[in-house]
Amino acid sequence: MNVAISTRQSDFVTELESHVKTMYRAVALYPESAFHFEMGRTMAERLGYDPRDLDRIPAASIESFAGVGYHFALADLQKNQFVVDLGSGSGMDTFIASNKVGHGGSVVGIDMTDEQRNKASYLRDSGGFCNVSYKKAYIEDTGLPGGLYHTVISNGVVNLAADKPAVFKEAYRLLRSGGRLALSDIVTEKALPERITCDATLWAACIGGAMQQDEYIAEIEKAGFRVVAVRDNTEYHFISGGATWATETYGVKSISLLAVKD
Ligand SMILES: C[S@@+](CC[C@H](N)C(=O)[O-])C[C@H]1O[C@@H](n2cnc3c(N)ncnc32)[C@H](O)[C@@H]1O
Repeated sequence: MNVAISTRQSDFVTELESHVKTMYRAVALYPESAFHFEMGRTMAERLGYDPRDLDRIPAASIESFAGVGYHFALADLQKNQFVVDLGSGSGMDTFIASNKVGHGGSVVGIDMTDEQRNKASYLRDSGGFCNVSYKKAYIEDTGLPGGLYHTVISNGVVNLAADKPAVFKEAYRLLRSGGRLALSDIVTEKALPERITCDATLWAACIGGAMQQDEYIAEIEKAGFRVVAVRDNTEYHFISGGATWATETYGVKSISLLAVKD
């Protein structure tokens, strides 16, 4: 019986991965299409991105920006720091981080979707962002060296992961002592019913996989972090009818969070 349950679970995880890759392939290649969520520069500015930072990075990375908050206010990146972006998409946050840490620092973007990484790599090469690299990996197991990085950032991604505790443990492993985890993500105020959590399309739209906020924070603390700030991103809204309904019914919302590895 346990074997049957775990086979069902792993079938669902495989289905999820396929849905997530399909959705974010489209985000990279066809950003002008209709999605459950808003993308692009207008939203980035509404979330708090500084227009001067956006002017200094490739416009095509901004068109495919599918983040949910402005975690840079909490990350407080400094020159010469080493940064990992979990779920780097088409690269917008990696380019902003690149400019903040300068030539003495570096930024590694992790993403499992080839088209996202390919687009980000092309934009990196044509824009001369020499301190940025990308790696194909799962955010649950990046394969990067442990204890090296000053900051781990992530924007709109952890909700998509089937094993969130593994993501937080990986972020903790990557950071050096005193390192910061600054993320923006989707959480809920009430637990989502199974018909939503088992809907792979709603999962890929950053809704079905959202965890209840208190459990989400508890998992970050269980990984070893001290959570020092949590902010609601009230400027973030889903746009499709189904997504808006879930938002209103279950308190699906965006937060930004800072946690420290002491
Ligand atoms: C909502 S998009 C956000 C991308 C980027 N952070 C941004 O702000 O535009 C989510 C990204 O995370 C990637 N992703 C989702 N789950 C992942 C996982 N388990 N491992 C690696 N990448 C993942 C997807 O391929 C996609 O590019």
